[in-house]
Amino acid sequence: MSNILSGKKGIISGALNSESIAWKVAERCVAEGAQIVLTNAPVAMRMGEINALAEKCNAPVFGADATSMEDLETLFTKSMDHFGGKMDFVLHSIGMSVNVRKGKPYTDLNHEWMQKTFDVSAMSFHKMMQTIWKLDAINDWGSILALSYIAAQRVFPDYSEMAESKALLESFARSFGYHLGTAKHVRVNTLSQSPTMTTAGQGVKGFHDFFNYADKMSPLGNAPAEDCANYCVALFSDYTRYVTMQNLYHDGGFSTMGMNPALIQNP
Ligand code: NAI
Repeated sequence: MSNILSGKKGIISGALNSESIAWKVAERCVAEGAQIVLTNAPVAMRMGEINALAEKCNAPVFGADATSMEDLETLFTKSMDHFGGKMDFVLHSIGMSVNVRKGKPYTDLNHEWMQKTFDVSAMSFHKMMQTIWKLDAINDWGSILALSYIAAQRVFPDYSEMAESKALLESFARSFGYHLGTAKHVRVNTLSQSPTMTTAGQGVKGFHDFFNYADKMSPLGNAPAEDCANYCVALFSDYTRYVTMQNLYHDGGFSTMGMNPALIQNP
């Protein structure tokens, strides 16, 4: 450990269980010297696993449905009270698709559910940033990050409406990145992660086959969640102060590949 987050304070959303990417990010941030607040939807908190992480990280858990402006305002206000001031970093690690959960084919989606999906998976990011903006909750040179997936750029049929959610999420990072950058030197990025064996990941049809396909296509193999956490730490640290409004691939090279002979020889 090099303590690169020493003195920094941040909010980590989305740690559901020990497989969650956010769980690993929380552990790594604390190991690097940060003080954190954990948050998740009240329904996820009732499952109780987050309490073990909270204890390990010596962090409070403040429940918030990320689609509710009221909940978000309470979350950021309570967090500032806890920290005794503003924060330095925020992780958005939230995704859920109603149509994927219910197994609806892309050509027969329920559009009310689609709106819910967009609200939870993408608009919640805008809502978080708007709350941060209004409450002036982040320090100058702070860092805001959301987790994305390459289905925002390319077609992955089973990813369904989550593809559009991620496209929207990445666009919010660019647009709010302009405002937060100009006003406060705060950077906003998305990190596009390899398929990862988590609750949300495995909810996608055919995930295991796809995981193996991506692993073979990528020269470095799929990027593990622990390494994703390391990249998040780097993006929260002062070593990346001028990186903003980017979608950053953390995928073992998958996004640049066209064809990998390893897949043809051994599909
Ligand atoms: P996960 O299932 O552990 O985390 C998803 C989190 O979203 C859960 O903690 C859940 O409680 C939270 N959530 C859902 N609705 C919410 C709401 N209304 N308010 C607040 N929180 C809510 O799965 P994972 O994979 O760690 O997902 C984290 C992020 O990483 C998501 O944005 C996901 O799309 C993204 N991602 C995941 C990949 C994968 O293959 N697992 C690949 C690329 C990106």
